[in-house]
Amino acid sequence: MENYKKMIELAQSAMKNSYSPYSHFKVGACLKTVNGKYFVGTNIENSSYGASICAERSAISCAISSGEKNFEAIAIVSSGDDYCPPCGICRQVLSEFGDNIKVVLAKSPQDYVVYNLSELLPHKFFEGDMK
Ligand code: THU
Repeated sequence: MENYKKMIELAQSAMKNSYSPYSHFKVGACLKTVNGKYFVGTNIENSSYGASICAERSAISCAISSGEKNFEAIAIVSSGDDYCPPCGICRQVLSEFGDNIKVVLAKSPQDYVVYNLSELLPHKFFEGDMK
């Protein structure tokens, strides 16, 4: 059962911890597992820019580290004015754990749009492509 409001609030809370001294763009994410657990993440930048990690992958790392990999949905918020779609790398990393994860892009708990991950990443690269 969806509870996007709670996910968005948790993502907003995580966003407050963003370490983004270079872009000044804060992002927060909250993953919900199929068994009803929540894992949050925020973006963590680095002076070597390529070493930065996005909020979504930060949340995935947290969930996997806690033994959870069956995801129902992810909510994403940012300090920007518009919805913050996940970057290509985060789409690919999310898709490792399911094509039907709901991706909730939110400006607030009342203002959000929902996509299916497969809409955002058609024709993903997967194991079968390595044959
Ligand atoms: N960022 C995310 O955390 N998630 C996204 O999907 C888009 C970009 C972060 C990375 C970087 O810290 C900042 O936003 C600007 O790109």
